[in-house]
Amino acid sequence: SHKPNHFLTLKTLPPATILSLVHRSLAFKHAHPHTPPASNTNMLHGKTLALLFTKKSTRTRISAETAWSSLGGHPMFLGANDIQLGDPAKGGESWRDTATVVGSMVDAVFARLGDHKEIEELAQYSRAPVINALTAKYHPMQALADIMTIYEATLGERVLKEIVSSGEDLPRLEGVKVAWVGDANNIINSLLVSLPRLGIHVSVATPAGYEIDADIKEFVAVEGARAKNVAGDTYGTVSYTTDPSVACNGAHIIVTDTWVSMGQEADKESKLKDFAGYKVTEAMAKLGNAHPDWKFMHCLPRKLEEVDDEVFYNPDRSLVFSEAENRKWTAIAVFEHVMGGK
Ligand code: CP
Ligand code: NVA
Repeated sequence: SHKPNHFLTLKTLPPATILSLVHRSLAFKHAHPHTPPASNTNMLHGKTLALLFTKKSTRTRISAETAWSSLGGHPMFLGANDIQLGDPAKGGESWRDTATVVGSMVDAVFARLGDHKEIEELAQYSRAPVINALTAKYHPMQALADIMTIYEATLGERVLKEIVSSGEDLPRLEGVKVAWVGDANNIINSLLVSLPRLGIHVSVATPAGYEIDADIKEFVAVEGARAKNVAGDTYGTVSYTTDPSVACNGAHIIVTDTWVSMGQEADKESKLKDFAGYKVTEAMAKLGNAHPDWKFMHCLPRKLEEVDDEVFYNPDRSLVFSEAENRKWTAIAVFEHVMGGK
């Protein structure tokens, strides 16, 4: 039996594949509400997607259910409290048995879980492809929508429509600088394993004591060194600091996320203290000498402490709601890709 086409992280996707997924996402968005490109509206007819979620979700669930349906398929939501899954020591059904059973009845599994090991175990035992809807380590579906949003902000609608309708490849975005001001979490991990390989520079500010995981830093360093030895290849530079204003220097886009990810609720009080000075504001961007026309991104949901309303609701700065909408267009492209459509 062949290995299912799992989609667990952008780390293992070549840049050309990432860009073709973004290209396809843009094509779906531009065609909307007209006939989707290549008449793929019914490619998932009769196919079921199991959404296996042990954490809450607004965007990821809605984008996936509507995306899968838009290709003619049937999504089925399985909340952690509705199925038998649980700690076998406490009488629950194991990941292994759950994965074997669910994977035998559906065509794909879309899973939002805790530790990344859980989704790896699910993928190990599921006959159906497993797609990562967020783990504590990675959120590839979000990063893909973020990349799409960065392309829109950088190239503009007219140019992008030309590229997409002519079928040309998307260019690498050399020279674009993204600043991360926030926690060392699943979102920045996913951005770090993808953006530099598209030529985008990333400067990361996390507070002292919140270092980016060593394996992510290692991947960035190894890929950067490799690209240097390949003629014509590009790789964005990556830098790390604890000072938000240093990270913001020259930034075209400033990105943040919650300081307290799902599952870290017990650390909330201490984290809020550790992240003092990390709220994204006009003053922070100015102090750091961000590009005068800098934009703001956030995967949402937003909590009040990490960005102020002046930035968050400023239509000239904030891309957050198109970033959220783009979750749907990228989900369609990923489902089509995983299910072998294009
Ligand atoms: N950004 C994101 O994944 O949002 P949800 O938790 O609402 O799915
Ligand atoms: N870092 C956040 C992202 C939520 C979409 C979390 O894992 O909770």
